[in-house]
Amino acid sequence: MNDAFVLGGLGMVGKATMKALDIPFYFDLKDSNIDLEEGAQKLFCFICLPTPTDEKGGQAKALDTIRDYIKQIKGYGGRNIFIIRSTVLPGTCRALAEATGAMVVSNPEFLSESSWEHDCLNPRLKVIGADDVPSRVAVTNLWKSVKAKLDIETDTVTAETIKYAMNSFAVVKVVFANALYDACQLSQADYDTVREVLHQHPWGSKHHLKAVDKGGRGAGGRCLPKDMKAFATWSNSEFLKATERINFDYLVASKKI
Ligand SMILES: NC(=O)c1ccc[n+]([C@@H]2O[C@H](COP(=O)([O-])OP(=O)(O)OC[C@H]3O[C@@H](n4cnc5c(N)ncnc54)[C@H](O)[C@@H]3O)[C@@H](O)[C@H]2O)c1
Repeated sequence: MNDAFVLGGLGMVGKATMKALDIPFYFDLKDSNIDLEEGAQKLFCFICLPTPTDEKGGQAKALDTIRDYIKQIKGYGGRNIFIIRSTVLPGTCRALAEATGAMVVSNPEFLSESSWEHDCLNPRLKVIGADDVPSRVAVTNLWKSVKAKLDIETDTVTAETIKYAMNSFAVVKVVFANALYDACQLSQADYDTVREVLHQHPWGSKHHLKAVDKGGRGAGGRCLPKDMKAFATWSNSEFLKATERINFDYLVASKKI
């Protein structure tokens, strides 16, 4: 796919996107093989930049960076479709489109860090969120060669929300598993047997039910804590905020952060 380039192409999601779609061109702080003026001539610009959650639970600085890049590329006369693979809060693509006049599509990534090379070629889930028909058709066609078990085409806000639904559900399950584990300690029930039922029964879940994992309690890694915090703050949900706080306390107690 020569008519595309990847912003943040040397990161994990950038590399996964380049590999999945055979995109040769990337622009990154570390190194680049295309400049933004050349990139503006490509139809598709994938954005795979970091979106850390700040102290207030927002993403303001990261979104400023993304918006400035879109403006700069458009300034070179580009008529690109900007495809946001970074994890961004619901409404971000619409806000970026409004601020820049660009076509902005949501296309979140669901890979696991430990198996990204396999996951990017064999995704369980592909989500394309677009608010206009031409960009939705164009991005859907772009991804046609990569088959997923579950394919969702929707609007941008729903696509952005799906990403947070997946990540926050994982954290909720981990926190629940820990509460259940503690209850089993109280009752002297066998947690592994209880967990096995939740694994096997359709009402349960096959994942995220280990109370202690990777050397301690709590859902860690580069994405789950930061995304949980951003989504809990953004939604102002008491349930999500409490879950985030409990998970954070587990991570601190386990020295995972
Ligand atoms: N890592 C994962 O498992 C994963 C999974 C799904 C989604 N995501 C999301 O994807 C996004 C990227 O995550 P990642 O893990 O690939 O991050 P990363 O840190 O591995 O890569 C980010 C890349 O962007 C580059 N970069 C940073 N600032 C830049 C700038 N101003 N201009 C140009 N390049 C810049 C960095 O040099 C780096 O190569 C984040 O929003 C993350 O939440 C990550």
